[in-house]
Amino acid sequence: MNFQVWAYLKFIFSSNNQHGIHSPFVYHFITQCLYNNSINNPAKIKVLKAYRRDLLNNDTIINVTDFGAGSKVFKSNERRISAIAKNAGITLKNTILLYKICTYFKVSRVLEIGTSLGLSTSGLSISDSVSKVITLEGCPKTSGVAKQQLNKHQFNNVNLEVGEFNQIMPKVLKNNQFDLIYFDGNHTKSATIEYFNLCKSQIKNESIFIFDDIHWSSEMESAWQHIKNDKAVSVTVDTFKWGIVFFRSEQPKQHFKIRV
Ligand SMILES: C[S@@+](CC[C@H](N)C(=O)[O-])C[C@H]1O[C@@H](n2cnc3c(N)ncnc32)[C@H](O)[C@@H]1O
Repeated sequence: MNFQVWAYLKFIFSSNNQHGIHSPFVYHFITQCLYNNSINNPAKIKVLKAYRRDLLNNDTIINVTDFGAGSKVFKSNERRISAIAKNAGITLKNTILLYKICTYFKVSRVLEIGTSLGLSTSGLSISDSVSKVITLEGCPKTSGVAKQQLNKHQFNNVNLEVGEFNQIMPKVLKNNQFDLIYFDGNHTKSATIEYFNLCKSQIKNESIFIFDDIHWSSEMESAWQHIKNDKAVSVTVDTFKWGIVFFRSEQPKQHFKIRV
């Protein structure tokens, strides 16, 4: 059985919905945000769908620069834009979830590590509360497509920085404060922990970190375990796809697994 199927089965048997959640903070987060579609603005969902549709209909082939843990799907660096959007990008459901999370927590400043074609960037930047998103991408060709798309759909609050994460992250973190950081770049244990430690240097009580693909490999599960154990971390919510991290000192340390 492949790793992710096994990890998913384990998740299904150990996860929950809102029932039996005694933490008011987490209960509200689940019921008023994760499970609540009434906070969605239909006009904004239309824009998110149009952004995605453009990419899924784009058969142009680009030559991508591969970083980090590589791909479980692509064998070559010559890739169709539609295929990247389908295989490497976030789903529509999760794009909308990012939008809901930003709206619910009234997030203003966002850092995204790993833009690709900007699908998740669209979800992170569309909420009215979000004033600025800095998104980082190393591949010049992929980021070129993302830039065009973000301009076309008027995501004027997004700054896309192109470069190797190790080179650009320290400067970005030194010059900016973020309310939410979305980690979706290099899916190796060492890089995930390295970026977590770098970003942790500027957390405040309300900061939120979201790690993508925490059950993608045993390395990523081990990185997730390391993050959960960190002293600064209080509450975590594992949705299988994401590990959501809170640093609120008033909350007892507690880890939840929630089906969304
Ligand atoms: C999984 S994709 C991001 C997907 C995107 N967040 C979405 O859901 O639409 C990860 C991206 O991170 C970039 N990346 C990975 N490691 C990197 C590194 N060390 N430096 C710069 N970019 C990197 C890759 O080029 C790739 O486009």
